[in-house]
Amino acid sequence: MQITLSHHSIRLLKWLSVLLVVKVIVFTLYSYRNYFPPNFEVPFLLGRQSYFFGQYSWSFYAHLASGPTTLVLGLILLSDRFRGRYPHGHRILGRIQVGMILFVLVPSGIGMSFYALTGILAGVGFATSAIATGVCAILGWRAAVRRKIQTHRLWMLRCFAILCSAVVIRIIGGMGTVYGWDAPWVYQASAWISWLLPLALVEVHRNIQLVQPLSQSDS
Ligand code: HEM
Repeated sequence: MQITLSHHSIRLLKWLSVLLVVKVIVFTLYSYRNYFPPNFEVPFLLGRQSYFFGQYSWSFYAHLASGPTTLVLGLILLSDRFRGRYPHGHRILGRIQVGMILFVLVPSGIGMSFYALTGILAGVGFATSAIATGVCAILGWRAAVRRKIQTHRLWMLRCFAILCSAVVIRIIGGMGTVYGWDAPWVYQASAWISWLLPLALVEVHRNIQLVQPLSQSDS
């Protein structure tokens, strides 16, 4: 199925998405006041005191540092304007991004997924999304090294889409508060929906942008 949208609508959608991601980053950073030092009265840390000060705290703080950083770097790296003006900067930030995803965000996400608030189904959802992020980052990096630029863009877009699970899960959480969806299954489902939905949107986006198909040599 091919969807047609005007150039202006696509630009508007892009800017609205950027604003949404920035808003979630700002709100997330604001919530850090409860994590430095840890306040075990807030919902996310409630009941975690018994195991917090061990491996969990390492994963947790590594995650707090790498999560927003990779989202911000993702926004910069996806910007055509930035890449056009600063190709060297794009390469340096790209290396930092791939290193941070593979060595900090993915391991910390997997470490925390063993203790997911609502159990194993949510935990497996988070761990799978962590692995998928790492795979997209590796394939995107490999394509860049081989100068397969369209393939590189596609894998990095997929990688960023999964990073945006942090945004989607907070939107679902906010809607849950407004509409009173407080059943555990909502949270468990959101651990999966939050990354599968943006990934599906990337595939729809590819259909919208059929004017720039992958060339034979680049697929
Ligand atoms: C693939 C990428 C990611 C994975 C696999 C992942 C995984 C997780 C897991 C398993 C938890 C604990 C959930 C629970 O116990 O129920 C968590 C919490 C958290 N994540 Fe991520 N995450 C990812 C990306 C991000 C990003 C990009 C951010 C940036 C905003 C982020 C920020 C946080 C924060 C701040 C928490 C603590 C809870 C809160 O305050 O909401 N994560 N993440």
